Amino acid sequence: MNLHFLSLLFTIGLVSCSWTSNLNYRSPSEHHPSLGISIHKVVKRNDPKSPWDPTQLNFTHGVASGDPYPHSVILWTRVGPTAENDASNLTVSGYAPLFNHETERYVKVSKAPVCVEWKAASDKELKHVVDSGKVYTSSDIDYTVKVEAKKLRPFTTYYYRFNVCNSNNTSPLGRTKTTPEADDHITKVGIAVFSCSNYPFGFFNAYGNPVRKDSVDYVVHLGDYYYEYKNGAYGWGQSIGRVPQPDKEITTLYDYRKRIATYRTDIDLVASHQQFPWIPVWDDHEVADNTWRDGMAHLNNTEDSFLHDGGIAVDQRKMNAVRAYFEWMPIRQVEMDDNLRIWRSFKIGKLVDLIMLDTRNYDRSITDLYWNTDYVHQISNDAGRSLMGPRQESWFYNELSTSAKRGATWRIIGSQIIFSRLNQSRASGDENPLNYDAWDGYQANKNRTLDLLYEKNIGNNIFLAGDSHASWVSDLAWLGAKPYDSVTGKGSIGVEFAGTAVTSPCPYGANITLAAANNASQWLTAANEELQWQDLYYRGYFELYISPQQVEAKYFGLPTVVTRNNWEISLANFTVKAGENKLSRPVGGGIVESGSLKGGKLVQTNVTVDTGNGTWFVSHEDLSVL
Ligand SMILES: *[C@@H]1O[C@H](CO)[C@@H](O)[C@H](O)[C@H]1NC(C)=O
Ligand SMILES: *[C@@H]1O[C@H](CO)[C@@H](O)[C@H](O)[C@H]1NC(C)=O
Ligand SMILES: *[C@@H]1O[C@H](CO)[C@@H](O)[C@H](O)[C@H]1NC(C)=O
Ligand SMILES: *[C@@H]1O[C@H](CO)[C@@H](O)[C@H](O)[C@H]1NC(C)=O
Ligand SMILES: *[C@@H]1O[C@H](CO)[C@@H](O)[C@H](O)[C@H]1NC(C)=O
Ligand SMILES: *[C@@H]1O[C@H](CO)[C@@H](O)[C@H](O)[C@H]1NC(C)=O
Ligand SMILES: *[C@@H]1O[C@H](CO)[C@@H](O)[C@H](O)[C@H]1NC(C)=O
Ligand SMILES: *[C@@H]1O[C@H](CO)[C@@H](O)[C@H](O)[C@H]1NC(C)=O
Ligand SMILES: *[C@@H]1O[C@H](CO)[C@@H](O)[C@H](O)[C@H]1NC(C)=O
Ligand SMILES: *[C@@H]1O[C@H](CO)[C@@H](O)[C@H](O)[C@H]1NC(C)=O
Ligand SMILES: *[C@@H]1O[C@H](CO)[C@@H](O)[C@H](O)[C@H]1NC(C)=O
Repeated sequence: MNLHFLSLLFTIGLVSCSWTSNLNYRSPSEHHPSLGISIHKVVKRNDPKSPWDPTQLNFTHGVASGDPYPHSVILWTRVGPTAENDASNLTVSGYAPLFNHETERYVKVSKAPVCVEWKAASDKELKHVVDSGKVYTSSDIDYTVKVEAKKLRPFTTYYYRFNVCNSNNTSPLGRTKTTPEADDHITKVGIAVFSCSNYPFGFFNAYGNPVRKDSVDYVVHLGDYYYEYKNGAYGWGQSIGRVPQPDKEITTLYDYRKRIATYRTDIDLVASHQQFPWIPVWDDHEVADNTWRDGMAHLNNTEDSFLHDGGIAVDQRKMNAVRAYFEWMPIRQVEMDDNLRIWRSFKIGKLVDLIMLDTRNYDRSITDLYWNTDYVHQISNDAGRSLMGPRQESWFYNELSTSAKRGATWRIIGSQIIFSRLNQSRASGDENPLNYDAWDGYQANKNRTLDLLYEKNIGNNIFLAGDSHASWVSDLAWLGAKPYDSVTGKGSIGVEFAGTAVTSPCPYGANITLAAANNASQWLTAANEELQWQDLYYRGYFELYISPQQVEAKYFGLPTVVTRNNWEISLANFTVKAGENKLSRPVGGGIVESGSLKGGKLVQTNVTVDTGNGTWFVSHEDLSVL
């Protein structure tokens, strides 16, 4: 039965309020409704004659928008009778039970569904409405609402709001922005790039700063948007009042929903979702640590693992995570038949093709799982290894070629893990000097990518990466295969900007001192030819400003994340000129505020901050304890 027919069926008698326009009912598979949520069953147990009293319903987690196209964008909210998440993983005879934590019993929810109206307008007062609709949500999809606003104009700002049908119970007002038409010649686009936000390690101040500055058009998130760990296992949530729920390593659908919901109470994260359209992809922790095609660090795809590691199978856990992710994130499912597909691309005018990869969960060959590091090192140069799987790889190479052919100025590749070769032998011990969980563990996949760029002479490539909790800025060199001059940048085919974490701790020690961090950065820039700037000390993010002439990257460091504050330090700025395929010399203008700059200077000036108790002019060290 096709969807169109389905939606026709279910709108009869429910007057223009739609189930299927809430995209979350359509996951995971549009063409195989039996694999997804049975809308038949949902409709059956909902009695439209006893609707919710609008005053019993709440917009519990703000609003969000994402995956902008020239004429449409995804809008998201959550509205329900409770902020508690649904445990419909326990669905019994058509009922979606809700866990009541006071009585510790499952309650059958059989009321009418929640009816929500939405509108998108060109003005804040929502007078000039360009698209609107009416959809249902219910416990089956954790009371989430995801709709596509259409009829929009390219590269235009819009405002949107939801309300409970026939009531003045409204959501906050959201703001969003479409992308330009593929052939539009636009002069500037700003993107804030984030990764690795770990709730028990600190406040998400980094998300809030671009909101306060109103500095960018879009937000890109490279993954590790949330973490699966139990608080005590990783983090100091207790000491800062940020224990993520449920307080256990998450495995069930309920767990994943609840964990994302906890993260989405951080006011800076909520503010970023409310003000900017997001384009996120997942890394490993959205499912679990070091995931690959058939397992993860703490779960093997074996009976033994099932029995001893939580009573859950790898596939079931992945499915739970992915379903909760799609319910809660304001993104499109570009291929309804392929629930695991998050890799997708965006044409931002003639200026940029933004290619978002999944180097983790889709079809990745075995990775470093801690007990097999030597083995993965040994096979890291095997021709058959892939980070993406053959299907995604061919799509990726085709995207790169097509992008060059259509004449897009820049290709920006959103990767989770670092692409450049990074020798960290001082930290890791010489036997395994590289990070085999990053592109270095999949040399064949990396070579195929570089080979295509060099052979087809595809330039202006900007790789982005997160995952590492540190900042790494490199020329994109094919070491050992193509000549590369680290001083001039000659021989490089692009640039890689890898960003630090929103809050996740420094990989060289959670509470490392500034001096020790900068010292280690010096060693790293010296040991790695193509690595031009490195910083370990600061949590933060970076912003990209893209024009036809150049891409500028501005790195920001946050002095402390254990308090909620808006402080940030401009750490370093970089320019990549169109056609040059390398960092402009002198790299970073020759001066940075932190870390180590190859051939440049480190000058740590005092920084001005407003602490709420007056303005202070203090050193980097003193900032961290203010
Ligand atoms: C709705 O939110 C308000 C304010 O946070 C709260 O006081 C009220 O209890 C909530 N109602 C429900 C049904 O959750
Ligand atoms: C919403 O508020 C307006 C203005 O206060 C009022 O006129 C209208 O009746 C309200 N609508 C509903 C459905 O309560
Ligand atoms: C469903 O979620 C609840 C709440 O977390 C959990 O106790 C239960 O084990 C889960 N059941 C299954 C089958 O995953
Ligand atoms: C997974 O299998 C490996 C190899 O047999 C073993 O060393 C490791 O402890 C297992 N991990 C789990 C979580 O079961
Ligand atoms: C990494 O650096 C160490 C020490 O500088 C060196 O001995 C080793 O050969 C390097 N390994 C690689 C793969 O570059
Ligand atoms: C990839 O290229 C490197 C040179 O950078 C080379 O040493 C390695 O053997 C190549 N591996 C594969 C599988 O192509
Ligand atoms: C590191 O800093 C955090 C936050 O201030 C603190 O809770 C934790 O105890 C510190 N850890 C160590 C080992 O000093
Ligand atoms: C800096 O690194 C060197 C080794 O490269 C080490 O000997 C020294 O103790 C380090 N200094 C600090 C302050 O960490
Ligand atoms: C980066 O550029 C901004 C201007 O956009 C400037 O204010 C800031 O000082 C620069 N930062 C560094 C470290 O040079
Ligand atoms: C501001 O000053 C008050 C009183 O001295 C102090 O309790 C508070 O911690 C200070 N706040 C900040 C952010 O420094
Ligand atoms: C920088 O700040 C420190 C306190 O953090 C202060 O002792 C020092 O005098 C300041 N330097 C300048 C040049 O103001």
